[in-house]
Amino acid sequence: MKIRFEPRGLAPVVAAAALLAGCSSVSLAPTRDGELAIPAGYKSWPKFLSAVQRPDAKQVREIYMDPAARHASAQSGFPNGTVFVMENYAARTNTDGSLASGPDGKLVKGDLVRIFVMGKNAGWGADVPEPLRNGNWVYAAWLPNGQKAPDDLATCRACHLPLASQDFVPRYNEHFARR
Ligand code: HEC
Repeated sequence: MKIRFEPRGLAPVVAAAALLAGCSSVSLAPTRDGELAIPAGYKSWPKFLSAVQRPDAKQVREIYMDPAARHASAQSGFPNGTVFVMENYAARTNTDGSLASGPDGKLVKGDLVRIFVMGKNAGWGADVPEPLRNGNWVYAAWLPNGQKAPDDLATCRACHLPLASQDFVPRYNEHFARR
């Protein structure tokens, strides 16, 4: 007969600690890649950049920033608590497969294919190995139906990583030049 060890004594201790900390759920780890949810109401946030043209990726992208990011400057970078949401739309194609363009000469937005979220806060990403750490930014990728996208989140870090001088935000200069 197998004897299973049930640490019954522990549960009340953990519950008491949670009560003392004044929260109903104990958050044991800072937010990691993949854990950052799509923020409710992000569609009403200010745009960081709109209709970003990515013919190389056959996409058009809309980038939103949470309202607090309005106070950021090119000198200060983005404060802890900043969240960006990027909608990636497939660009429409012509019948011959070439990229379609609208009357304004720009790519035409088709289906939404991904929602990328990145956010920074104190202690976030602390478990990321140093060579891949992007300050305290963490990344998440979602499908339009709200489910997790099967994307490898290490690739997000690898591509944003060289941009430390602009807070790991690729179109930083373009954004601040337009303010
Ligand atoms: C090959 C390089 C590359 C990879 C891989 C990549 N990004 Fe980015 N990311 C960019 C560029 C460049 C932009 C600026 C917009 C544009 O040109 O499409 C950007 C913009 C963003 C933005 C908007 C805020 C900002 O920093 O401008 C978010 C959010 C974002 N990426 C999240 C992700 C996530 C999540 C992943 C992984 C699933 C990822 N990125 C993978 C290059 C990359």
